Amino acid sequence: MRIDGKQIAADIRAEVTAAASGLVARGVRPGLAVILLGDNPASVSYVTAKERACVECGIASFPVRLPADTSEQTLLETISRLNEDPRVHGILVQLPLPRGFDEQKIIRSIAPEKDVDGFHPISLGKLLLGQDTFVPCTPAGIMELLRRSGVETAGKRAVVVGRSNIVGKPMALLLARKGADATVTLCHTATKDLGAVTREADILIVAAGHPHTIVAGQVKPGAVVIDVGVNRIPDATKKAGFRLVGDVDFEAIEPVASLITPVPGGVGPMTIAMLLRNTVKAAAATLPA
Ligand code: GUN
Repeated sequence: MRIDGKQIAADIRAEVTAAASGLVARGVRPGLAVILLGDNPASVSYVTAKERACVECGIASFPVRLPADTSEQTLLETISRLNEDPRVHGILVQLPLPRGFDEQKIIRSIAPEKDVDGFHPISLGKLLLGQDTFVPCTPAGIMELLRRSGVETAGKRAVVVGRSNIVGKPMALLLARKGADATVTLCHTATKDLGAVTREADILIVAAGHPHTIVAGQVKPGAVVIDVGVNRIPDATKKAGFRLVGDVDFEAIEPVASLITPVPGGVGPMTIAMLLRNTVKAAAATLPA
């Protein structure tokens, strides 16, 4: 059966809308600044979706568009201004940044209390330590998908494919932490016999960034499969000239899995829903106790 990420994300967005309106009643409209450098088509489409979602939930959107050849100093000054702006509760710098930028330096310049992406070393350190923090949106959204689909994680074998800072590493932490209690294996490009490992998984999370990373025979019958991939495949029959596919061979795996997320309409909408939720959390934290 398919997990309907769009529907679950819509439920969360309704909750976020109610929470945002509660904050407005107390004199605080949550605000999110989204910074995009350059015009990478995938990034433009993500950023546009994030900004539209804000407005739909009653969150103020502060779009910042800068040319790809913006200097590091200008970007740091822009972030510094947003750090000081009381209307802005969350700051997101869309990744990847154009060539030449030190991404970690830019992320470190975001005030941790406005780090709604959860990418700042302070946020990631707190996540490692099990402290309350902003959790990166994609892995947080996957935990929410599992919870709302009735998937038990405690005592289960979870396999995460991909060790990125944005998805794979925080995903492994979230699945293994107290309360989730899965036994986690983290696979990556140097993993030998990937299929032998993924066949052990009760819950398989695939965030490798390549189509057909997981193919027939690599999934245990009855497993729950979460496909994080968003890959553009040329397709002349589509108006845009491409279609989106995940990292999993969906047609081959759907009949084997008990639950599987489609691409699009699985994890993607959840990432945005969690960003909105983190923004409301950041705004709520500015209220007097
Ligand atoms: N690029 C791909 N995913 C993300 C994300 O969740 N946040 C940001 N800022 N950039 C991304």
